Amino acid sequence: MIYGMRAVTLTRFGGPDVLQVRQVPDPPPPGPGQVLVQVRAAGVNPLDAALRAGRLAPLLGRRFPMIPGNDAAGTVIAVGGDVTGIEVGQHVHGMFDAAPKPARHGFALPGTYADLALTRASTLAAVPDRVDLVTAAAIPVAGLTAHQVLVRKARLGRGSSVLVIGASGGVGTFATQIAVALGADVTGVAGGPRTERVRALGARRVIDHHDVDVTGLAERFDLVYDVSARFSHRRLRHLVAPGGLAVANLGPPVATLSPALRHPERRFGRYGFAWVSPDGRDLAALDRLVAAGDVAPCVDDVLPLDDASVAHRRLEAGGAFGKLVLAVDGARSAADL
Ligand SMILES: NC(=O)c1ccc[n+]([C@@H]2O[C@H](COP(=O)([O-])OP(=O)(O)OC[C@H]3O[C@@H](n4cnc5c(N)ncnc54)[C@H](OP(=O)(O)O)[C@@H]3O)[C@@H](O)[C@H]2O)c1
Repeated sequence: MIYGMRAVTLTRFGGPDVLQVRQVPDPPPPGPGQVLVQVRAAGVNPLDAALRAGRLAPLLGRRFPMIPGNDAAGTVIAVGGDVTGIEVGQHVHGMFDAAPKPARHGFALPGTYADLALTRASTLAAVPDRVDLVTAAAIPVAGLTAHQVLVRKARLGRGSSVLVIGASGGVGTFATQIAVALGADVTGVAGGPRTERVRALGARRVIDHHDVDVTGLAERFDLVYDVSARFSHRRLRHLVAPGGLAVANLGPPVATLSPALRHPERRFGRYGFAWVSPDGRDLAALDRLVAAGDVAPCVDDVLPLDDASVAHRRLEAGGAFGKLVLAVDGARSAADL
């Protein structure tokens, strides 16, 4: 057991510079249903930036110091009671959440920008063979979001037409590839030089949002997935084919109050919101697509844990193709792990 770990912490909300590496106490030993993981890599998500900036304070409180980070890949070093199927020494990844069960509002108390992190066993999946830990850390939040929207919410089938707005980012690079793997006909929307890379992910057509106002397209799609969360449903609904669905990556704040409000499509059809859930079984299903070579996680860059503030600045400036990942333990590239 390691006593005292390195972690990126914040002692107040603010811009990227509030992220500082400090020595902090280890997490407690895993309780029932929990697993303690030695983190080797942590994915960086807009969700982490929202926590850092204080936008989640109404839901998660302000108990400082806080350790940000929802995604991690690493090695299991201890398992609590009632945990089956996960063993010490195994390589795992997941969207971490140590709470005994998911919070009603859906947000987890995070903490993966650290040497060690605790999570509920049910959030974890085994890292597939031949997938390195940096790549594995890039998958959970972004990959689960895309997979849950396309498979669970939209029940996408072969031959469906899909418009992915924001196809070049963390979620969008997964959404594009998963939709293609499911046999859909994908039109991706991205900006500038990233358009060609979206085509390489399998999109049949790519639209540059610098040149074309996507809300003015004449076509109709079975699924309009606004990953970028920049467009209101009102501006997108005419792009949805009869019987189709529009999904936005951000719902209204009121949707945090009740799971029912997050699924308006169940009642009204035609539109809904993404609400990622830290589900290890869904992650394992996505991992099978990764292992089969149908989905290749896109890691734009790997930065050391000390550069978490640099990573957040780059995330918020935009322009990464896929994911930024923090390497814990000095590893600098996917090949190192
Ligand atoms: N509700 C949930 O469960 C959930 C889960 C995960 C993420 N999210 C949210 O979803 C959003 C995207 O997450 P991410 O991880 O994919 O972020 P990201 O990696 O920063 O990607 C942002 C994407 O938006 C695109 N974009 C920017 N401006 C655009 C415009 N004017 N028109 C069309 N596309 C535009 C970018 O394309 P270019 O760079 O090519 O311009 C890029 O593809 C964030 O707001 C995040 O908080 C929600």
